[in-house]
Amino acid sequence: MDTTSNGIDRAKAPKPALGTTPITGERYYSKAFAEREFEKMWTKVWLIAGLVEELPHANDYLTCEIGRESVLCVRGEDNRIRSFYNVCQHRGNRLVHNDRGNASNSTFACAYHGWRYDTQGTLRWVYCEEDFQQGTPCGRRNLIEIPCETWAGFIWYSLDEDVVPLREFLHPVAEQLDCYQMEKMKRTHWVTLEGDFNWKCVQDNFNESYHLPFVHPQAGLALDEHYSNCQFDLYPSGHCRMLMPGGGPNPERFEGSDEVIFKALKQELAFWEIDPEVFRGRTQELRTALQQRKRELGRKKGYDFSHYTDEQLTDHYHYTLFPNLSFSMKPDGCIFLRGNPHPTDPEKTIFDMWYLTLFPEGAKEYYSGSMRDWVSIESSAPHEVGKVGEVSCGPGIDQDVTIWASQQQGLRSRGFRGGYMPEQENRVRYFHESLDRYLAA
Ligand code: FES
Ligand SMILES: [Fe+2]
Repeated sequence: MDTTSNGIDRAKAPKPALGTTPITGERYYSKAFAEREFEKMWTKVWLIAGLVEELPHANDYLTCEIGRESVLCVRGEDNRIRSFYNVCQHRGNRLVHNDRGNASNSTFACAYHGWRYDTQGTLRWVYCEEDFQQGTPCGRRNLIEIPCETWAGFIWYSLDEDVVPLREFLHPVAEQLDCYQMEKMKRTHWVTLEGDFNWKCVQDNFNESYHLPFVHPQAGLALDEHYSNCQFDLYPSGHCRMLMPGGGPNPERFEGSDEVIFKALKQELAFWEIDPEVFRGRTQELRTALQQRKRELGRKKGYDFSHYTDEQLTDHYHYTLFPNLSFSMKPDGCIFLRGNPHPTDPEKTIFDMWYLTLFPEGAKEYYSGSMRDWVSIESSAPHEVGKVGEVSCGPGIDQDVTIWASQQQGLRSRGFRGGYMPEQENRVRYFHESLDRYLAA
């Protein structure tokens, strides 16, 4: 099927058999468990290093970390992006210490004894080359290259030289998300937080919507969070998705007034030129009305929605990718959420929130409804870095972040006997079982 033109297939995935073993607290704080995760899982999967747009020119590079490893991604003079272990092959010094940059003279020079590598990883020059009895290291002791591919505007790498091709790893998510043309989106928010919780608290959280009425009480006015109207798909690859209706709350359960719904949807209704008064007493029709309006006015407002189905125009297509990524898709953007393990402390996580905006054609400034913020296509998002509470991830995600440290404290308690979860949290269970499969391999 040509998903680019037909939008996302909503076919329900067959439900996998799930176990019943409690998910215990120890996996959130044990150092031994974290070591096993690194050896058996983090070194076997595809991970995101950054955005292709961060390396527009030859010799542009970025570095990223996973556990204790640092990875160097660089666009070579042949225009190809490659990834390497960021380690000098002389005596192991870390080669590059900057996050981002352009390699001057197309060279990475080690600060210790001056060995120089080109941006395709080849060792080009060493001090006292004639003094190596075993022969010159140049051209032989090159940087160690690792698998590197791009998809959806992201640079992906893997520490497993035998890893399956990226699209195979991402199946069926890549095929489904192609229609969003994420490579055309711009990063308009970029926040990195260090928090006192295990990385799995993050992935667990985005694998369920059971917490919505309590952590995000305002959200239930603009979407139908009740599990009875949502679809959950658990794919054999370990990736999952959730389809949740937008355009207003669950009509059978909502007990507030029409006013409250109008207020929650105010910006969206105004942008799409819908008079809420017309829907007084029949707010359950707003979702379809929004879909129709987006079809009618999309072109005029600079959008090409022809790749989307009607549901994609209003609903929440939320993907959780194994091991640590979430893409929450909107018609005009994507929230990127990622919990990276701290290099040494399993009770800490480096959490990233990016908002990627699809600007309407010709627009320079755009009001992002999801972020409740004006964003500009011309200035790239500043990287805000801090501890929890020091920088904001936007109104919704801040509420999630606040919970995780509190959960970590309880997960560590002798009084926690393992989770006891409803069906609608199956993605949480499935995530842990997928992790266990890697650990057992
Ligand atoms: S460790 Fe890099 S040149 Fe010696
Ligand atoms: Fe949440």
